[in-house]
Amino acid sequence: MADSVLIKGGSALLEPGRLTQADVLVADGVIRRAGKGVRSQAARVIDASGCVVAPGLVDIHAHLREPGMEYKEDVASGSRAAVCGGYTTVFCMPNTEPAIDNASVAEYVFDRGVDEGLCMILPHGAITVGRAGEVLAPMGEMGKCRAGVKGFSDDGSPLVDAEIMRRAMEYARTMGALIISHSEERSLSADGQMNEGYYSTFLGLRGIPPESEEIAVFRDIRLAEKTGARLHLAHLSTAGSVALVRDARRRGMEVTCEVTPHHFSLDESALMDYDTNLKMNPPLRSRADIEALLEGLSDGTIDAIATDHAPHAPHEKETEFDVAEFGVVGLETCLGLVMSRLVEPGVLSLEDALGKLTAVPAHIMEMERFGYRARLEEGEPADIVVFDPSAEWTVDPRTFKSRSRNTPYAGWGLKGKVTHTLFRGTVVVADGELVGAPETATLPARDEASTASTARAEGTKAKG
Ligand code: DOR
Ligand code: ZN
Repeated sequence: MADSVLIKGGSALLEPGRLTQADVLVADGVIRRAGKGVRSQAARVIDASGCVVAPGLVDIHAHLREPGMEYKEDVASGSRAAVCGGYTTVFCMPNTEPAIDNASVAEYVFDRGVDEGLCMILPHGAITVGRAGEVLAPMGEMGKCRAGVKGFSDDGSPLVDAEIMRRAMEYARTMGALIISHSEERSLSADGQMNEGYYSTFLGLRGIPPESEEIAVFRDIRLAEKTGARLHLAHLSTAGSVALVRDARRRGMEVTCEVTPHHFSLDESALMDYDTNLKMNPPLRSRADIEALLEGLSDGTIDAIATDHAPHAPHEKETEFDVAEFGVVGLETCLGLVMSRLVEPGVLSLEDALGKLTAVPAHIMEMERFGYRARLEEGEPADIVVFDPSAEWTVDPRTFKSRSRNTPYAGWGLKGKVTHTLFRGTVVVADGELVGAPETATLPARDEASTASTARAEGTKAKG
């Protein structure tokens, strides 16, 4: 059988919520058999004993920076990072330059994924033209184009004007689109650098109060109730936000939400060294907020785990805290953090954690419309991750396939390591390494980067 792969002896997620000892046979991009004792003359056998075999992970929220900021990341490098982290589908945010606010940019990003990506890259579209918060973007056109945009967000910045959010939701409802809210009340968060409280006072940094997020979460939940639009809340970080979602669900609302690994694994006290790799928006919150996020994950209030992979170049991070960019990379550490911080301590079962990384985000994004359900069943596309749940490894940003290395986890010991990733039946990661001599990330050395940024700054001065 040509191009066939037999994944043998693993513990496989053959149906949501249940791991069973099973073999998975893949051929021509599709799962051919999944069950006990599959016999085959497969061209290749992957020994998955001791490993978990699951649908490839689905990231509902990443920043791949193309077009316009390819020095941080592009679709190709982002997809390399993704498959190394076990992902086979990545939805990327439209805060690019130009923004993904029309069909031609959406198709450009989608086509880059098809041509250069190692996995499925699907763009979200902007809600407003240029993400400027003023004029609605042509969502219908983006929805109908080749990229089939389903999710719309001005993520990176909030949609300040509630009336425009209302109109966007009315529009989204008519086309069955999903509004993804970056929930932030700017009048409260402006110039903020970290969570507001003891630590921001101690460090002398301007705070971002939890209410900045919660007021916006409340606003968007109320508007979604009014308009009947489908709403997804991005990167929830506070106890109050989790409570608002829980309440909305009790009223029967279909709102969904996500949390990132950094918000459940790190709190504001980590900022004591002014490490800009801990600067992100929303900011790291308090211990009590983390407890609430963990409770929200375990009681099902929080549907999905997303990376908010936000690559930045050294010159944008190795600078004063106030001027450093917000964001951290996450595609290559997410699974390890989920295993070490959620599964190992018993916050989530392995099965539930996998659901929040695969079938649930796939369903939120209605990937069924592409014939994809993130299930290991016969006839389904063969997007598969194999990982060793007990393998321990140390995060070394120098090995990242992302073009950027802005991670707060350097030197952390994590449990749970990807061994193989298959995308449409092709092995793209084998024994933890990218297959086929991949182009490695081209990062300037620290000296070159600072020379480049000094030159740029001087250029600007000269012009001024
Ligand atoms: O930390 C963040 N980084 N939060 C955002 O909302 C945007 C993102 C980025 O694009 O860098
Ligand atoms: Zn984001």
